[in-house]
Amino acid sequence: MNDSHGRDVVGLDARAAALAIVESALKSRSGLDEALSRPPFTRLEPRERAHARALAMMTLRHLGEIDHALQAKLSKPPPEAVMAILRIGACQLFYMEAPDFAAVDTSVELASAYKGTRPFKGLVNAVLRGLARAGKPEQDPSRLAPDWLLSRWKAAFGVDAALKIAAVIAVEPSTDLTFKDPAAAEGLAEALEARAIPGGSWRTDKGGTLTEWPGFEDGVWWVQDASAAIPARLLHVQPGETAADLCAAPGGKTLQLAAAGAETVAVDRSAPRLVRVTENLARMGLTAETHAADAALWEDKRKFDAVLLDAPCTATGTFRRHPDVLWGSRPADIVKLAQSQARLLDTASMRVKDGGRLVYCVCSLEPEEGEGQIDGFLRRHPDFRLDPIAPGEGGAPDGSITANGAMRILPFQIEGGTDGFFAVRFARA
Ligand SMILES: C[S@@+](CC[C@H](N)C(=O)[O-])C[C@H]1O[C@@H](n2cnc3c(N)ncnc32)[C@H](O)[C@@H]1O
Repeated sequence: MNDSHGRDVVGLDARAAALAIVESALKSRSGLDEALSRPPFTRLEPRERAHARALAMMTLRHLGEIDHALQAKLSKPPPEAVMAILRIGACQLFYMEAPDFAAVDTSVELASAYKGTRPFKGLVNAVLRGLARAGKPEQDPSRLAPDWLLSRWKAAFGVDAALKIAAVIAVEPSTDLTFKDPAAAEGLAEALEARAIPGGSWRTDKGGTLTEWPGFEDGVWWVQDASAAIPARLLHVQPGETAADLCAAPGGKTLQLAAAGAETVAVDRSAPRLVRVTENLARMGLTAETHAADAALWEDKRKFDAVLLDAPCTATGTFRRHPDVLWGSRPADIVKLAQSQARLLDTASMRVKDGGRLVYCVCSLEPEEGEGQIDGFLRRHPDFRLDPIAPGEGGAPDGSITANGAMRILPFQIEGGTDGFFAVRFARA
């Protein structure tokens, strides 16, 4: 993109793409993924893509702090498109170590590039210069999460825990790996710069292209957040047992069940997402039967020793890699999803053999989607009992086991942070 003087400004296209990503992510829950799959992002060169993505993600990660700093400089809210330019400008000033002049000048150029924002380029200039003079704000966890979510977390987990959860929002996540054969991990740990996490995951901050890391091509490991790897372990599947993963894509938990030797069936409503399960299975040299179907309507009469329901949820626990979930979620989503989770749990229960077990899990921090499902399920299904999870089982971190034996992982409980997760295990009489 050329600036208003006809100069080819380095990175202006990337900044424009970052702007489009942030605007789209704030508009709807699926906005981030949509923006990453269409122009202007997809038209960029790989290096610029990486820059645009990093800038957009950093802006979303620090959005609460950025908006707080901007509000102090604005007497009234500018149009959304102008606000978006200010947000990515402020992000560069405070969190991307861009020289002040570059952050300010390119933001003014961006404002000049669009008819709707052009009249505001003076404002963009003045506000960002003001922010640059004031300097980076001190980190305050209470500003990192939207007020309504922080209030919910305070009510559910206490003020201290809620603020610790919010502080994790600012932490860039490491990459966690699950090994197909846990015995192979030690041998690759040094090359992968990885350290062990209780339960069996390995964590690395290695740079470079992940697909070029040792062991990727050969299907030795896959990427899976350390807390996301725990629920499937709680099923303790044995070689030759049958297992169903009812909301399977992209397949991290299917891979775990198959790697443990279970005859695994993976079901997902989304055919395109199920393709990723098939690709992941192929890379890992593992097999599982796959079905593109709504788990509630799936016409298959088989019953399984182990059933996993990793239900669709608000995913508020995944804010480290998806900071957009904090800003795109609405209270009504929680109510709607909790209802569909209860329905999916009912259908999942029908797939469990007598004497079999069912693990229900969600990557949400909202109690309605986790703890709140238990009593209703047990009332509707007297043939099931809650099978308490033991402290430390499967890598459950200290403090994550609730009074009745469910598992509630808060993002700060594993050193360096993880996704927030909830899991509960039921056994059929
Ligand atoms: C949280 S993700 C699952 C992640 C997966 N278990 C893993 O570990 O890689 C939820 C998945 O549920 C699928 N889904 C949503 N509603 C469904 C339904 N009614 N039946 C089957 N799959 C469904 C979505 O397509 C999505 O892939």
